[in-house]
Amino acid sequence: HSVGIIGAPFSKGQSRDGVQLGPDLIRAAGLVEKLKGQGCTVKDYGNLTFEEVAKDETTGRAKRPRAVGQANKQLSEAVRKIKNEGHACVMLGGDHSLAIGSIHGHAACGTQLSVVWVDAHADINTPLTTPTGNIHGQPMSYLIHELRSKIPVMPNFSWLKPCIAAEDVVYIGLRDVDPEEHYILKYLGIKTFSMTEVDYLGIAKVMEQTCDHIFSKVKKPIHLSYDIDALDPSLAPATGTPVVGGLTYREGIYITEHICQTGLLSAVDMVEVNPKRGGTDNGVRSTVDAAVDLLLGCFGRVREGSHSADYKIP
Ligand code: ARG
Ligand code: MN
Ligand code: MN
Ligand code: MN
Repeated sequence: HSVGIIGAPFSKGQSRDGVQLGPDLIRAAGLVEKLKGQGCTVKDYGNLTFEEVAKDETTGRAKRPRAVGQANKQLSEAVRKIKNEGHACVMLGGDHSLAIGSIHGHAACGTQLSVVWVDAHADINTPLTTPTGNIHGQPMSYLIHELRSKIPVMPNFSWLKPCIAAEDVVYIGLRDVDPEEHYILKYLGIKTFSMTEVDYLGIAKVMEQTCDHIFSKVKKPIHLSYDIDALDPSLAPATGTPVVGGLTYREGIYITEHICQTGLLSAVDMVEVNPKRGGTDNGVRSTVDAAVDLLLGCFGRVREGSHSADYKIP
């Protein structure tokens, strides 16, 4: 695997301080070295820098639209460059509003994408349905073609065009979905595996059916958008909106192993790691270590172990 990493230390898609520290924390836990250690070629493109936006009034109900729009425009351009240079792109967030730019930049390379969204939340509120105003609860609504007419004009969003078809999206791990979001998911017929389906089917069948769904027509590159709050808070407490009853470590890792095996993983977001949440140092460490392990699983790490092709017993 050839991996390009871009850090997006951005937090204005929600209101809790600390999530902008995610990229450097995940790197400090050894991401680059560990990826190289498992045979990946890695280019770290560093962190984006975001300028302050002076006056950033709410539009519709969406908070800080100018800052979010501007940051995602920058991110989209960075991701497109990394894809054009031939890498699988890893975007380290930052909050989940960054999926707007990450998926847009990925799609800008021309091919139609599938999106696998692993999250406790659906993040598909529109700027008019959002109960909180936080844009990290809305990114999918801006990206899906079928919702185009539901998105009002917003400052610093004129560059953004929807680029994903509802039928190319699969959700895994849902357990905190707003009523308006639930309506949208049903109305668009989006494939979802909530925690109920994870319980009923088991994670292996969930992944089999996920792949059946996204490969039912042509095999498209996969964009995996992984919100760390998909994992159970006992394992990953350092996040802004934890929800009890989440994925186990093993279920979380299995998702990455299965997606890796498809050979079609083209970009990954790892978002919502917030070291100022989660209480203890141990909680923060466990969250960051889980994020690193999920990324290693995306790029070839297998739990049975592995060896290089030319190994000989000495
Ligand atoms: N549904 C809620 C909202 O719209 C919570 C979203 C949480 N999103 C996240 N990326 N953690 O605000
Ligand atoms: Mn979430
Ligand atoms: Mn499969
Ligand atoms: Mn999310």
